[in-house]
Amino acid sequence: MNPGDLGWLIAGVAAGFAIARLVRRKPGDSSGERTPVAVPELDPRFEQLVQSLRVGIVTLDRRGTIASINAAATAIFELAGKPTLGKALIEVVPSFDLDRRVRDALDGSAWRGDLSLNVPPRARMLTVSTIPVEGGGALVIASDETRLHELEQMRRDFVSNVSHELRTPLSSINLMIETILTTDLDEEALRLFLPRVKQEVDRMVQLVADLLDIARAEAGRLPLRIEELDLAAVAAKITSTLEPRAVQLGVVLRHGGASVWMNGDADRLAQILVNLTDNALRHTPAGGTVDVEVRAQQGSAALIVRDTGAGIPYSDLPHIFERFYVVDRSRARESAGTGLGLSIVKHLVEAHGGRVSVDSELGLGATFTCLFPALPAASVSGATPAS
Ligand SMILES: Nc1ncnc2c1ncn2[C@@H]1O[C@H](COP(=O)(O)OP(=O)(O)O)[C@@H](O)[C@H]1O
Ligand SMILES: [Mg+2]
Repeated sequence: MNPGDLGWLIAGVAAGFAIARLVRRKPGDSSGERTPVAVPELDPRFEQLVQSLRVGIVTLDRRGTIASINAAATAIFELAGKPTLGKALIEVVPSFDLDRRVRDALDGSAWRGDLSLNVPPRARMLTVSTIPVEGGGALVIASDETRLHELEQMRRDFVSNVSHELRTPLSSINLMIETILTTDLDEEALRLFLPRVKQEVDRMVQLVADLLDIARAEAGRLPLRIEELDLAAVAAKITSTLEPRAVQLGVVLRHGGASVWMNGDADRLAQILVNLTDNALRHTPAGGTVDVEVRAQQGSAALIVRDTGAGIPYSDLPHIFERFYVVDRSRARESAGTGLGLSIVKHLVEAHGGRVSVDSELGLGATFTCLFPALPAASVSGATPAS
């Protein structure tokens, strides 16, 4: 049973009580004119219970006007501060779909299903039950499932993205192997083919490693081997590793700044640097510059990667840390990546208790800044000569 079901169960039980009380006829009232018991006449403890439920509950009298509404329903239907009692539901919740279900319930037929509500300020996805009440009237039970639907959509997108990213290298590997098997290739042709097969396999291995990192980070299980380290030393090491690639691309790669000590995982910090610097190199045309700088900044260890490349359009900036987000596949000068790099960077920075931000002006380059909690220089055991 999922948590939603529990809510429904409680609501169901509560609703049973509510119905019994709300539709109770006055003794001796045989005219058929039913007077629903108003909410204040309910047992105050019961009313408190109904009010505190996370599911929305609205009771309607036999004409379909609102007899009672709990706090959750007020929130779900965005009715805070609006008069509701005594009004028809359609007057305050402008949904023809809901109105139709309510009228069906008043006519005696129950319904349960999903209902999208496009009332400003936001669109919502609700799960709604409309239940006829014996003797006239109806009960509307609603829960806001918007977040759940969004998560479900994200999950679907994720699966389709992963499948797509895996299928592309797999089909090209398949094609190349087929060619090798069916064609009488000489050694030279093979020497040409096999590195490309290897390249595609490497891409898949990297993709799977990235996915694993993301899955671990999102589950809060990214293991960090924390030690006291000098962020500048990590930066120096990584920039020298990437130097040959910068030369190959005709981009000047520089590193500078000063020592700043922090608690960090050297491998994970290196991964952050590789991701940011690789992006900078890939989006900077020959003749451009990529600067990697480390410095102390108001109690933080700042890692700044700045390039003079293509930059990032303003409208894309809020999204680039989302997984699989790629601005424009045609802009990168090599085959575009998978859009996982920055999402991993964000997770890794946050796992270190830091945060990452980006500034960019289209055509003038981009600057990524990571801020980590720094260690005061005096407290660093490795930095004091005495120890
Ligand atoms: N330094 C940069 N300059 C311009 N665009 C960048 C830069 N860094 C990242 N981007 C944009 O952000 C997107 C997401 O980056 P990332 O998550 O590393 O994915 P990937 O590198 O696999 O494309 C990139 O596709 C690119 O469009
Ligand atoms: Mg990248």
